Amino acid sequence: MLEIKNIEYCYKDGDHKRYIIKNCSATFNESIFYTIVGPSGCGKTTLISLLAGLDQQNSGEIVINGKKLLKKNIEKYRKNEVAIIFQQYNLIKYLSAVDNVLYIMHECGSKKLKNPKDIAYKILENVGIVKSKADRYASNLSGGECQRVAIAKAIASNANIIVADEPTGNLDEDTSDEIIRLFKELSHTYNKTVIVVTHSNTLAKKSDVCYRLVNKKLEEV
Ligand SMILES: Nc1ncnc2c1ncn2[C@@H]1O[C@H](COP(=O)(O)OP(=O)(O)OP(=O)(O)O)[C@@H](O)[C@H]1O
Ligand SMILES: [Mg+2]
Repeated sequence: MLEIKNIEYCYKDGDHKRYIIKNCSATFNESIFYTIVGPSGCGKTTLISLLAGLDQQNSGEIVINGKKLLKKNIEKYRKNEVAIIFQQYNLIKYLSAVDNVLYIMHECGSKKLKNPKDIAYKILENVGIVKSKADRYASNLSGGECQRVAIAKAIASNANIIVADEPTGNLDEDTSDEIIRLFKELSHTYNKTVIVVTHSNTLAKKSDVCYRLVNKKLEEV
């Protein structure tokens, strides 16, 4: 379970403190697919960066399974517990899709696995990337295929929390639908906590719980 408790995030603008997030609390449970919506510039990327441990709040707490996320354990959190998917730039272009997945498995300490490459192919197959595509350079895959590989990476990392920032922003409607289905599967079948920031109402409607970021805090829609 991921909890945010009364978090604030601000930056200094001359003598003023400008708050982007304020008095913001929410709970994210496992096996649930969440979306976060809100107008451009309201602080969604900022909030998700805090959840992913890429940045730290000025005050308040982020608690993962009862344990506070602190500076001293943030690196471990980023490595083992959370996976991040962006709108683009999720892959190393000069590696094949399967090597992108293998790289993450290696990073996350899966060295002990007997046949890691077979497992990587299998994970890719599960998200709709067949072997012939898995062997292609990431630079030769379409946007939708790249997002599938990004999702495969998130599965391979074994992280229990998956956060994504506008993952379907560059995709057409049918491809977006397919990616949404995969996010849903990540939460419902793999029991992950999945949190997706989106501008898309269609995507938001398909989530189990939708939060709106309004007045610097999250409100359940
Ligand atoms: N360190 C910073 N210094 C100054 N302004 C910042 C800083 N970080 C974020 N901002 C501002 O905070 C606001 C929130 O930005 P953020 O990127 O989180 O919005 P967003 O909801 O993700 O927007 P979009 O939907 O367009 O992606 C913006 O006005 C941004 O310019
Ligand atoms: Mg953003």
